Amino acid sequence: MAEDVKTLEDNFRQQNKSCFVLGASGETGRVLLQELLERNIFSKITLIGRRRLTFEDKAYENVVQEVVDFEKDDHAAAKAGSELNTENPINHFKGGFIRVDHDYVLKSAELAKAGGCTQFHLESSKGADKTSSFLYLKVKGQVEADIEALGFDRFSIYRPAVLLVDRQESRPAEWLARKVLGGFSFVSPTAMSIPIQAVAKAMVSNTLLQPEQKTEILENKAIYTLGKGAGK
Ligand SMILES: NC(=O)c1ccc[n+]([C@@H]2O[C@H](COP(=O)([O-])OP(=O)(O)OC[C@H]3O[C@@H](n4cnc5c(N)ncnc54)[C@H](OP(=O)(O)O)[C@@H]3O)[C@@H](O)[C@H]2O)c1
Repeated sequence: MAEDVKTLEDNFRQQNKSCFVLGASGETGRVLLQELLERNIFSKITLIGRRRLTFEDKAYENVVQEVVDFEKDDHAAAKAGSELNTENPINHFKGGFIRVDHDYVLKSAELAKAGGCTQFHLESSKGADKTSSFLYLKVKGQVEADIEALGFDRFSIYRPAVLLVDRQESRPAEWLARKVLGGFSFVSPTAMSIPIQAVAKAMVSNTLLQPEQKTEILENKAIYTLGKGAGK
């Protein structure tokens, strides 16, 4: 398997492709960027985010950064988000969530498609479903469906369960869930959680493959298996 991955990486590298990463300052994005740099399969990596990031390590010196004011580029100020009365604090939260997790992602995908990008890889969530009555799962499912409608040559959706990560930012509820699920993951590694490194490795490894379908969905177990196969 390790040999196969190496051959796939060599072949991919020769195609001289470039990629962009949205959310490289986030937990998954940070590890994904490390993985992309280590495996060196793209000739150019561009980070797109709302702020410039600082890197000390020399490995990051060729990474290009584009700072974008997502609010300014806010198309349809959120199809769904703008329909909410945002004076209500709960709706304000909901509107913000929809803007970031749906509208900014969709807008980025639209721009990427218009700019000739052929593949889009989306970290969604376990249980994503546009018909769900839970806002979180509904928004995740909706953005999946809206990006699929853009017609990328390839659209890969990753649906991880709870991410196991030592988060830099403090989120107490997530911390507690991780402590509980972290222990549980020894017994059943993919039932309810996944290490963030497995997600990042799977995303990079999957990029090397050529699926039969234009749109593919990788559920938690498939992500884990692919991430584990990438080794190290
Ligand atoms: N946490 C979990 O257990 C879990 C489970 C399944 C799926 N997911 C999903 O997986 C994805 C990645 O999760 P994560 O925990 O790795 O992400 P994260 O650490 O929360 O990072 C979020 C990223 O989004 C950016 N962002 C947030 N608000 C923004 C705004 N208003 N404008 C522009 N950029 C903004 C952040 O930039 P700044 O650094 O500038 O704030 C950061 O790069 C998310 O879509 C999440 O919903 C998470």
